[in-house]
Amino acid sequence: MHRFDYFKNHTKKNKRQNVCEIIIIMSKIFKNIKIIKVEETESTNIYAGKLSGTVSEGSIVWADYQTLGRGNGSNVWESQRGMNLTFSVVLYPTFLKAVQQFYLSKAISLSIADFISLYVNNVRIKWPNDIYVENKKIAGILIENSIERDYINESIIGIGININQEIFLSGAPNPVSLCQLTGQKYDLKEMLDLFSKILEYRYSLIKDGEFALIDENYMDILYKNGINAMYKAGEIKFEGVIINVEKTGELIIKESSGKQHKFLHKEVEYIIEGL
Ligand code: BTN
Repeated sequence: MHRFDYFKNHTKKNKRQNVCEIIIIMSKIFKNIKIIKVEETESTNIYAGKLSGTVSEGSIVWADYQTLGRGNGSNVWESQRGMNLTFSVVLYPTFLKAVQQFYLSKAISLSIADFISLYVNNVRIKWPNDIYVENKKIAGILIENSIERDYINESIIGIGININQEIFLSGAPNPVSLCQLTGQKYDLKEMLDLFSKILEYRYSLIKDGEFALIDENYMDILYKNGINAMYKAGEIKFEGVIINVEKTGELIIKESSGKQHKFLHKEVEYIIEGL
């Protein structure tokens, strides 16, 4: 399928409200979504969490600046005011069992990788869901699911994509922006609209049960998949090859001795050249 084929047949109309800009996008799954633009908020995940249940699936809270932008674990997410995309999407993937939640992570990662691949080559997903261009991180995802009776009830998908920022100051190991890679500046609103449609497409795949396709696409662009590389588990450094990611998200690495190890998120780190 051509990259742009799935962006067809979408219509939209605009409507302005004070500091907030709300765009209603008519589409297949994301019907009457709101894109709520705020100048500043603590974290779009917190803002979107408060709206959850009151807005249509696919609605977005987008901030120019987050005072407490959160990364995974105790990390903060650096993003210069008005320079990048920092937003959270509200989803209700009630069709997914809690044990299938890694499919949501995969679909979101793939949607960001699809999107960034429209502008640059060599986009990869670094397990479990960082988006890399070569050895540098261009986007991160913070998913917060709420589970009810073994099924996902609602999900806040926090996404940070580095777009126009030219210098990173926080000491994050390897950030990169699209502008640093291409030398161009981009219109954030246009990009967010485009991304929302790609996300809708990837989300429709898991909604339609296309898990094999999602698995295949994920493994195809998984960073260091099938390549000998260095890893660190606790204090132990070792060389191995990624051979699989289980349906529940565990990473399987095989050492040259043939011994296989299974890791949960944060139990293993990639050792990246030059860092
Ligand atoms: C990571 O890679 O550590 C995850 C980064 C997630 C950052 C985004 S920015 C929008 C949303 N709001 C937050 O506070 N965090 C996520």
